[in-house]
Amino acid sequence: MNIAVIGAQWGDEGKGKIVDLLTPHVSIVARYQGGHNAGHTVNVGDAQFILHLLPSGILHPGVRCVIGNGVVVDPDALFAEIETLATQGIEVGDRLLISDKAHVILPYHRELEVLAEARRGDRRIGTTSRGIGPSYEDKVGRRGIRVADLGDTSDDGPLAAAIRENVSARNRAIGGAEADWRALHADVRAVWARLERWVGDASLFLTRAMEAGERVLFEGAQGTLLDIDHGTYPFVSSSNSTVGGLCTGLGVGPRSIGAVLGIAKAYTTRVGRGPLPTELHGTMGDQLRESGREYGASTGRPRRCGWYDAVAVRYAVRINGLDALAITKIDVLDGLDEIPLCTSYRHGDEVLTEFPSNGSTLAGCEPVYEVLAGWSSRTAGVRRYEDLPSQAKTYLKRIEAVTGVPIAIVSTGSDRADTILMTGGLIDRWQAEPALFSE
Ligand code: GDP
Ligand code: IMO
Ligand code: MG
Repeated sequence: MNIAVIGAQWGDEGKGKIVDLLTPHVSIVARYQGGHNAGHTVNVGDAQFILHLLPSGILHPGVRCVIGNGVVVDPDALFAEIETLATQGIEVGDRLLISDKAHVILPYHRELEVLAEARRGDRRIGTTSRGIGPSYEDKVGRRGIRVADLGDTSDDGPLAAAIRENVSARNRAIGGAEADWRALHADVRAVWARLERWVGDASLFLTRAMEAGERVLFEGAQGTLLDIDHGTYPFVSSSNSTVGGLCTGLGVGPRSIGAVLGIAKAYTTRVGRGPLPTELHGTMGDQLRESGREYGASTGRPRRCGWYDAVAVRYAVRINGLDALAITKIDVLDGLDEIPLCTSYRHGDEVLTEFPSNGSTLAGCEPVYEVLAGWSSRTAGVRRYEDLPSQAKTYLKRIEAVTGVPIAIVSTGSDRADTILMTGGLIDRWQAEPALFSE
């Protein structure tokens, strides 16, 4: 049974940690959308790895990793990440396959994004400035450059023409010094020489592997509320981070997804702008940020913090058909007297139990809280459910009840080992299932 790991909030839920935890039970880990806007942190003992474009499974020797057609690939960022990993003792070698259909991010995408954000002024989105949005714009606009296109080595072939056109568009949009398309064309040729060994048909590779009984883990980036269609538009990223993006972003059918695990923090965070109904502005927000070390893994920006929002996560359950949840960072709530849990929204005279599909309605929503007792003993580092303080168990039970799906994993620290696997839960059963193919 293949499993999908998907963010159930606004990103940074701890997907990297959970993917790393589950990787020993699969032979392939595949990313299906986003790009190096992602920052997936994996802590193993004293070592810390932050994966941006490469699937987090790359840390496990013998595991093969796929970057699907739905991902946007910045070759410079990819090479830099591979080099950083090598300095940390991780060799990518031939374990990587990049879809020949994935679109590339080139320097003009980053420049156009910076310009677009500046022009939006106080309507800016607060993007990561990685060129993600403009690359997806080119894809949909049918002027994008795909990984396979980089293999055109002629001086005046389709690649040269596409670069010339796209650089001219960039020069028209951005005043001042013009970019030279010939220089970029030369750079891109050098890129191909390094990239070619990893490029292939990812859909075919995955399909054959699954037919042979290999087990695949699908690693989502960003989160449900940052999805281009289902997120808090326009304050979203430019890809489908929800489960639908998995099939289109890898070229696999829906039956290849055995189960969908949603990842949610025991509270809520968001980087960048846009509505966040449970946001805490005062000292409590600062306290969560400091104790949870809520600073972006990609950009270092402070994350906005608030209480757990069951309306938002329930929506993620619906959009993704989540089978179960992994609740991360419960340890960050250690020592609080009370923990509010948002169960519905108030909008004018109405009480809303479903996440509004309209952004202006959401912006006018106030959270309705149920207040639970906190705990004075620590959950940090606890590895057995029985050893959790009773109030923490009550909090988790309440999250299950108001969110509507069982909790399969509770994470009590950033280390791989600081994890509670719920007995009889989705992951417990999944891990016990023999993979048809043994590594
Ligand atoms: P991702 O983008 O979903 O992979 O999440 P990030 O890596 O951006 O952010 C999650 C942060 O929380 C990382 O610094 C993790 O090391 C850390 N983390 C994950 N799980 C836990 C946990 O249970 N407790 C604590 N204290 N930190 C955690
Ligand atoms: P992971 O995979 C949190 C946010 C940005 C911004 C918006 C659009 O680590 O969970 P973009 O550069 O994608 O056009 O920015 O999306 N964002 C993330 N926030 N975690 C992420 O990834 C994010 N990737 C993008 O902050 O608000
Ligand atoms: Mg992150």
